[in-house]
Amino acid sequence: MTVPSPSPSPSPADSSAPPLLETREVGKVFGSVIALRGVSMVLHAGEVTCVLGDNGAGKSTLIKILAGVHAHDGGEYLVDGSPVRLGGPREALDRGIATVYQDLAMIPLMSVWRNFFLGSEPVTGPLRRFDVARAKRVAREELRDMGIDIRDVDQPVGTLSGGERQSVAIARAVHFGARALILDEPTSALGVKQAGVVLRYIARARDRGLGVVFITHNPHHAYPVGDRFLVLNRGTSLGQFAKADITREELTSLMAGGAELDHLAHELGRAAADTTPGPASAGPGTT
Ligand SMILES: Nc1ncnc2c1ncn2[C@@H]1O[C@H](COP(=O)(O)OP(=O)(O)O)[C@@H](O)[C@H]1O
Ligand SMILES: [Mg+2]
Repeated sequence: MTVPSPSPSPSPADSSAPPLLETREVGKVFGSVIALRGVSMVLHAGEVTCVLGDNGAGKSTLIKILAGVHAHDGGEYLVDGSPVRLGGPREALDRGIATVYQDLAMIPLMSVWRNFFLGSEPVTGPLRRFDVARAKRVAREELRDMGIDIRDVDQPVGTLSGGERQSVAIARAVHFGARALILDEPTSALGVKQAGVVLRYIARARDRGLGVVFITHNPHHAYPVGDRFLVLNRGTSLGQFAKADITREELTSLMAGGAELDHLAHELGRAAADTTPGPASAGPGTT
């Protein structure tokens, strides 16, 4: 794996630096399906941008554009302030844009350290043999630096909890030089406690100066760690909000399609009223 050239990383406090990643009105069409239309978002170093939306909202399509998997066919995608057209995931990675997908691309029966270096094994000596001792040491140190307590890096990845597995994937991306870390629904398959574990590592990556794009359909997972919230609905943006500008309740209501739900509640209320015997239909026996 290529380590991206060490461009001077803007400090989180430096608001004059261009965003790490930015989309301006990007769109994506698959045949006759408009998967995404006019979506704008920013990601700054040292911040977490959450992308929220129901199934089919376009979250995965958006991050696949960010990750170089899909080319956008409308609007602009900027990295470090310059418009780009990425040729593939490799090119994104070379720019320090790493993506952790839900399936994690890990081999359950292989050890933690093996998985950590999968595809980019450190070599040693004239025969360029895989430097096992070094791989184990680095994996152990990187995990420890992220505050990840893995008892034994020799244990198979399959024996880790879901949260731990996600955390190993995050630590791996950080080690290989990610500046922007994209996580597609890392908490959706996890229980409350395990989700908390992953949220902690997201915060830890942010504190190390990375920008994190955190995809989730759960506003309760997004709100505590997010600096910005982009809400998608059927491929369009319902807006991007800085944390100061939206409460958790507003975010939840927006996510749930607030207006649609209000309408539904009204409709159901009316239906209930129609079938509830009112005073007029009360039997003659009542006083
Ligand atoms: N490769 C594809 N080909 C055709 N349609 C696609 C493709 N990828 C996504 N879509 C469609 O785009 C829309 C958004 O999907 P997606 O980005 O996966 O949503 P989300 O991740 O929010 O659930 C859906 O209607 C989906 O069926
Ligand atoms: Mg998805």
